[in-house]
Amino acid sequence: MNVPIVRDLAGLRALTRTWQRAGEVIGVVPTMGALHAGHLSLVEAAKARADRVIVTIFVNPKQFNNPEDLANYPRTEDEDARKLAPYGVDAVWVPDGDTMYPGGFATTVAVSGLTEVMDGVHRPGHFEGVATVVAKLFLQSQADLAFFGEKDFQQLQVVRRMAADLNIPIEVIGCPTVRESDGLAMSSRNLLLHEQARAAAPALHEQMQKMAEGIRQGKPIATLEAQARAQLEAVGFGPVEYLDLRSVDDLARLETADRPARLFAAAHLGGVRLIDNIAV
Ligand code: PAF
Repeated sequence: MNVPIVRDLAGLRALTRTWQRAGEVIGVVPTMGALHAGHLSLVEAAKARADRVIVTIFVNPKQFNNPEDLANYPRTEDEDARKLAPYGVDAVWVPDGDTMYPGGFATTVAVSGLTEVMDGVHRPGHFEGVATVVAKLFLQSQADLAFFGEKDFQQLQVVRRMAADLNIPIEVIGCPTVRESDGLAMSSRNLLLHEQARAAAPALHEQMQKMAEGIRQGKPIATLEAQARAQLEAVGFGPVEYLDLRSVDDLARLETADRPARLFAAAHLGGVRLIDNIAV
């Protein structure tokens, strides 16, 4: 089955107008490509809830705070189209840089509060880039429903806030993280891990599970964090940027899980930055 790739906004608008006139519900799955089973689970969720599904593929330069990271980000469009083919999506929106950010582009969407912790601190400007491009993708796709992975939980909360604050009429739906059989959260960046780093990578999820168990048992979080950091460094991680217990709603730092909470981690391994989070 051929995948209907759309590269110009007029073409996308013609499709969405037809679907809207027919009263169809449009779902969007925003991605940066290098699709894996996690993305495909979002496509499945979208197919289950929407009449029409648009997958977007755009490696967004504005959300990379490090030019080397942007240059190394995997780009696998043909392979992505092959992976999407069995799902019968209605459009794959693949704008180029000039279509997304034409000359003179001067607008930034910035969400305060939620972006002032974790990746907002360690990746300056990242969430402004995300909020700006996702706002554009929402408006371009005219979608009623949007599907995001919980692996990027902070992103999910930032996107929800942005859509609500800007009155974009879209429901943002979070979908569970998909993991490899050894527990490593699926991520396009996993492709960049060399063999030894890939073998060590599941330790991140393992240590997070141990920490979560300790938190449930009421052990002091500082002790649990120090133990997890030491174990991660022993298998080659470094630096570990954060291992934080935080409230789900506002991402405030917690000492105990006295309200709905998640444990969040970011750590470097073999030159690749990995993030993960789990419910506590
Ligand atoms: O999660 C991602 O892949 C990206 O941050 C997103 C949401 C597609 C925006 O570029």
